[in-house]
Formats: sequence, structure tokens, C-alpha cells
Amino acid sequence: MSLTQFPYGATPASAVPLAKVTMPSLLEMKRQGKPVSALTAYDYATARLVDEAGIDMVLVGDSLAMVVMGHENTLAVTVDEMLHHTRAVRRAVRRALVVADMPFGSYHSSVAEGVSNAVRFIKEGGAEAVKIEGPRVELVRALTEAEIPVVGHLGLTPQSLHRMGGYRVQARSVDAARQLHADALALAEAGAGVLVLEGVPREVAAAITAELPIPTIGIGAGPECDGQILVFHDLVNLTFAPPAKFVRRYADAAALFRSAVEQYREDVEHRAFPSDAESYHLPKEARKPLPAEPQANAPSIPVKKAV
Ligand code: KIV
Repeated sequence: MSLTQFPYGATPASAVPLAKVTMPSLLEMKRQGKPVSALTAYDYATARLVDEAGIDMVLVGDSLAMVVMGHENTLAVTVDEMLHHTRAVRRAVRRALVVADMPFGSYHSSVAEGVSNAVRFIKEGGAEAVKIEGPRVELVRALTEAEIPVVGHLGLTPQSLHRMGGYRVQARSVDAARQLHADALALAEAGAGVLVLEGVPREVAAAITAELPIPTIGIGAGPECDGQILVFHDLVNLTFAPPAKFVRRYADAAALFRSAVEQYREDVEHRAFPSDAESYHLPKEARKPLPAEPQANAPSIPVKKAV
């Protein structure tokens, strides 16, 4: 049991006014030159912190396969697992746009399969948009026709790990940069409302951002993108690995959590936890004498209400 409660609808501690972020409002931010902040989140508590801090877009990324589930890459996570986390995030988020990542294998066989899995993320997960990797123009068109907002994802697409031969910066040659540019325009034309650009040279991302009518959200794509996204666990150092070049660590949660857990263990081992103040008590009149042994049919002794 924990007394932690997160009543839905409670006033958040946020200093940010609660104007719901939508796909059209992200487009409006691009028009007004306002940077879009985005972060991943995978559970209720972190999603709630992220939302209350005023982040515009929360992505339930398939990176959860690695940072939450401990897989080597993102390929193993399933639709049902992603849905489980999307629902937790949905319960927490009131303001940000909630985007669910479509996992590897959930849209790769056919457009019809992609649409029906995307429907699940909207209907069962409560997502407001889905993200798909790669230049899948026909799928983006079909999702748009099915009223499902789409976030595209180009450049270093982790679900293409084996084809790429590793996590490598993409679009480094003129030809590859031109192809990326063409793919980005095609996705926007097919109806994508936002485009994530990952692991591409700053200059390439800047050129695409300048030409694209929809917001670009960069991760390892330089500062000219319309917005930025990071993996939450990278931001707070919970990855147990050296950070990639593009990651800025804003906190050391690993150190903080480690020290809290070590202090707790020491306190338990030295009987310093719990204290008397952290214990429940019998009412004074019932403390002495306590019955030596529990007696059959003995009246129960009222215990102070737990708080
Ligand atoms: O899964 C993920 O976390 C992502 C973002 C980093 C863009 O795709």
C-alpha cells in the first residue's frame, strides 16, 4: 500500500495555464515560431510530472522496450505492452498531446494492419496521435483518412536498426539528404501533422524545417527544428549507459535514487526505520496489560485509523 494518490482532475502544481495541446495547436506554434517541447513518458507518475511541467507533447515511445523493460533494442515490444503504458500515461496527462509509438511489426505487413493497430491506440489507449517510423506515405494517407493524426519519424529510425547496421547518423551525403527531404515533404503531403527528425546533420534538419509546412521535432538534429524531444530516462540519467552526443542530462536521478535506497537499507539494518512516530499505536487504555496470547472470541481492540 502507498498513500500516494493522484486523483484525476486535481489542480496540478503547474505554473503553466491549462490550454489543451492539440495537433492544430502544434501547427499554430510553428506558424508563430514558438518552440515545441516534447518528452517521452511511460508511466503515470512521470507522465504527470512531465505534463505539469508544461511539456507540449508526451510520447509513449517504443524506447520503453529499452529504458523500462531492459531489452537491447526497441524491436521486441508488443502492441499490448505499448497499450498498457499508453493507458497509464493517458490517465496522467491533462494538457499535453499524447502520442503513442506504433511498435515494430504493428504496421509493417500491410496498410490495413497498420490502420487497425492504430485504431487500438486511439480507442483503447486514449492516444491522440500515433507515431510511425519511415517514409510510409500510403499508411500515413490511410491513417489520415481514418481520422487518426500521425507523427512521422525519419532519419535514424531505431526500428530499422538491422537494415542500418547500427544506430548511425543518417543523411550525411548529398543524395541521402535529398532523399530525406523528399520523404519529409511526401509525409507532410500525405497528412502527417508533425515530423520527428532523429540523428541527422543539423544543416539537413534546418533545411527541411524551413521548407516543411508542419512542425519538425528534433532529437540529435540540431537547434533549428521547430521543437525538441528527448527520452525521459536520458534527461535524468536513468539509462546506465554513457549519454549520446545529443543528450543533455538535467538531473542525476540514478544518484538520487541510489542514495535514497542505500539509506533506507541501512536504516532497516540498524533498526532506525521505522521510528515510533512512523508506527501505529493501540489506544493508551488498551496498551497494558496486553493479552499474553490471543484468546478465542476475544473482543477486537480498536486501532487508530490509518493515515
Ligand atoms: O521511442 C522513442 O523514444 C522515440 C523518440 C526518441 C523520438 O521514438
